[in-house]
Amino acid sequence: MNLDALMNKHLTRYFDPGRTIPEDTLQQLLRFLRSTPSSVNVQPNHFYVLATPEGKQRLADNLGERFQDNAEKILNASHTIILTTRADVPDSHIEAVFAKERADGRFPDPSKQQRWEAMTRDFLTLRGYGYKDLNHWMEKQTYMAVGLTMMAAAALGVEATPLEGFDPATVDKAFTIREAGHSTTVLLALGYPDPQKVYTNPISRFDADQLFTFI
Ligand SMILES: Cc1cc2nc3c(=O)[nH]c(=O)nc-3n(C[C@H](O)[C@H](O)[C@H](O)COP(=O)(O)O)c2cc1C
Repeated sequence: MNLDALMNKHLTRYFDPGRTIPEDTLQQLLRFLRSTPSSVNVQPNHFYVLATPEGKQRLADNLGERFQDNAEKILNASHTIILTTRADVPDSHIEAVFAKERADGRFPDPSKQQRWEAMTRDFLTLRGYGYKDLNHWMEKQTYMAVGLTMMAAAALGVEATPLEGFDPATVDKAFTIREAGHSTTVLLALGYPDPQKVYTNPISRFDADQLFTFI
């Protein structure tokens, strides 16, 4: 990955509709997305991978009135991922996390697994009843997954553009996402840039002295 090139690069707004991500590259990216970490391993996500023209069209048709600008990006992208986040953490979910950790041998020592589970329950109680930010906290995990996946895509030579321009109510309804206990947090369009429509103007960011404080 060429970090210098990445630092001077605009996010892709115009995808080449004629190019599709090769299946092995896509699968590698999805394996990476599956591997992204979350706080206390809460794993609050489900990902809808839109790989067909019908899937992308359904999303484009349900972005909501004010977000029509993003329809073309989604339709021209090779794939778009809908990253959804749980609305809350029912006991059934956290039990499933613990069961998978036990099956994967995350803590081969059963007493360590037990201590971990107690600590996790305690932390979830704090988020839910102390800080009262359980869903917001889980969405932060989703943003980390999207950011890491953008970098992984760059390493694979794939363009990745996160999209917040959509109405979660209409997107959730179109894909029956709330019925699954989740809601849409962010979209990730993936593909290759349209060579006719690449910006050449510079990117604009605050200078380093406004951003960094060395102590
Ligand atoms: C989390 C996130 C969500 C974004 N959502 C959209 C979007 O819905 N539509 C869009 O055209 N651009 C979207 N962008 C692109 C930003 O507007 C863009 O990165 C920013 O204006 C800087 O422009 P540059 O990447 O060309 O330097 C999004 C970027 C981020 C990081």
